[in-house]
Amino acid sequence: MTPRPVIAIDGPAGSGKSTVARLVAQRLGFLYIDTGAMYRALTLKALRTKADLNDEEKLGMLAASTDIKLKQESGSLKVYLDGEDVTSGIRTPEVTNNVKYIARAKPVRTHMVAVQRRLGKEGGTVMEGRDIATVVLPDADRKFYIDAAFEVRAQRRYKELKEGGAAVTEEDVRKDLKIRDDSDINRPIGPLRKAADSIIVDTTGLTIEGVVDKVLGLIKA
Ligand code: DC
Repeated sequence: MTPRPVIAIDGPAGSGKSTVARLVAQRLGFLYIDTGAMYRALTLKALRTKADLNDEEKLGMLAASTDIKLKQESGSLKVYLDGEDVTSGIRTPEVTNNVKYIARAKPVRTHMVAVQRRLGKEGGTVMEGRDIATVVLPDADRKFYIDAAFEVRAQRRYKELKEGGAAVTEEDVRKDLKIRDDSDINRPIGPLRKAADSIIVDTTGLTIEGVVDKVLGLIKA
């Protein structure tokens, strides 16, 4: 393996992959790239500018004229949209519910994949998303698919939302997660898939630290 390897991490919503990717990058001193945050940031811009979410060409042009930056600042990842810090603004239910329109637009994905490949090129990177091992970085040095049982993912998400003060029921969360899974899996371009050479890590019943240690062990092996 190269001294500055590229690590690809994919998985469904609520699998714990973002937390794992962030901690693995931290422990290795690598750059952490959250590609979901990039799709979220563009969704926020599309909502703010009242773009037609079904006009794929226009969304592609919007992507090309938008500046999205991920910066590690004092140990956490900050997301900038045209220079504005939108780190928390991209986590609202409105963005989460509309990101599927942005993520399914072919011109948007073509643009995002090109940007993400540039970011990954230097090595010393942990990139996380849905299509990283399959499309963005098929030559990554290590590939992981982080998974967990549906009910476990729903419970994690419910706990997270409750702790954030959201007025949601467990049933709402299950319904939203099912919609997200369906759009991630059934998108014709860049769908969520296990790459043939990805190592599958099931986080059901494991602590985050346990998963991080397991992934680090596999990277160093
Ligand atoms: O990882 P996340 O839940 O923040 O991602 C938000 C959405 O972005 C996800 O539902 C689908 C989309 N996405 C994508 O299409 N491709 C990626 N590589 C990452 C995320």
